[in-house]
Amino acid sequence: MVAPNAIISVQEVSKNFSSVVAVDRASFEIGSGEIFGLLGPNGAGKTTLIRLILDLIRPDAGSIRIQGQPISETHKNRIGYLPEERGLYFRQKVMAVLEYLGMLKGVSIERVRSNARDWLKRLEIDDLRNRPVQELSKGNQQKVQFIATVVSDPDILILDEPFTGLDPINVHLLVRSIQELAAKGKTVVLSVHQMSLVESLCRRVFMINRGRQVLYGDLEDIQNRYSEPSFLVRSGADFQGCELIDRFTSHNAAATVYLKQGVEPARFLRWLVESGAEVESFQRARTPLDEIFIRVVRDSS
Ligand SMILES: Nc1ncnc2c1ncn2[C@@H]1O[C@H](COP(=O)(O)OP(=O)(O)OP(=O)(O)O)[C@@H](O)[C@H]1O
Ligand SMILES: [Mg+2]
Repeated sequence: MVAPNAIISVQEVSKNFSSVVAVDRASFEIGSGEIFGLLGPNGAGKTTLIRLILDLIRPDAGSIRIQGQPISETHKNRIGYLPEERGLYFRQKVMAVLEYLGMLKGVSIERVRSNARDWLKRLEIDDLRNRPVQELSKGNQQKVQFIATVVSDPDILILDEPFTGLDPINVHLLVRSIQELAAKGKTVVLSVHQMSLVESLCRRVFMINRGRQVLYGDLEDIQNRYSEPSFLVRSGADFQGCELIDRFTSHNAAATVYLKQGVEPARFLRWLVESGAEVESFQRARTPLDEIFIRVVRDSS
C-alpha cells in the first residue's frame, strides 16, 4: 500500500552482486518533505539502495516508484545526488563546475549562477569561487560537492554520507542547511553514520544489516521501544555498591544508570539522596541511537 504522500516507494526490492545479497526484499516509503535516514553498518546495502532508487542499477526483484511512477528522465532532473565517491572536475574553477553541473539538470545559467552564489555565501566559501577545485581543502571540496547537489534546486536530495570530513562548525552549517531545505518542502534521503546527527535531523529511518531491514519507522517510537528505564545522573555518588542498579556507564561528571527490572525511580532517587552524595541533576534518559544501532546489528548478524 503506497502512502498518499509517498514521494519514493521501495517495494520488496532485492539486488545481488554474484554471490553477495546486497539488498534483500527491502520495502519502505519516503514521504514528501521529510528527512529520511538510511542507516546500517558498513557494507549493509545503503549505497546499493540509493543507486537502485536513482536507477543507476536495476533491481533483481521488486519495484521502485517516484511519485507513483517508474523513475523518468524528468524525475532524474529533479533529484540532486551527493554520491559516496566524490567526483568533481578537479582542474576547473569552483564556479565553472557548479554552473556546468547545474545546467546539466536543465536549469538556466542565470538561475544556476544566482543559486551558486547564494550557496557559496551560505556555506562561507564565496571567496573560493574562482579557485580550481583541486586547490581546495578536503572539507571545502565536500562543501562544493554539496552545493553541486543543490544548485539546480531539486525537489529530492539524496545524500550519501554528506558529513564525512567536515569539522563540527561545518557539520552544523550543513545540518542547518538541510533542515532549511526540508522546511521549504524538499525531500531529503540521508545515509549517515553519526547517530547523533540522525537524532537531530531525521523523523523516520530505515535501517538495514546485510541487506535486510532491521528497523523501520518513526525514530521516536523506535527509541521508546528500545529504552529501558534509565536515568542521567550528575552526582558524586558511587553506584558500584547500589543493588537497585542493573548497570551504569560513566561519562565526564555524569552517569547513565539502568535500573533493575521493577525498581521504582523514586526508590533509586531516595537511595541517591541517602547516599549523602551531592546531586546536581537527575533526569530520565532515552537510549541513544548509537546504542540501539550496535544492539540491533549485533542481534541481526
Ligand atoms: N558493484 C558491486 N559489485 C559487487 N559487490 C558490490 C557492488 N556494490 C556493492 N557491493 C556489495 O554489496 C554490499 C553492500 O554494499 P553497499 O556499498 O551498498 O554498502 P553500504 O551500506 O553503503 O556500506 P558503507 O557504509 O561502507 O558505505 C557489500 O557487500 C558490497 O561489497
Ligand atoms: Mg555506502
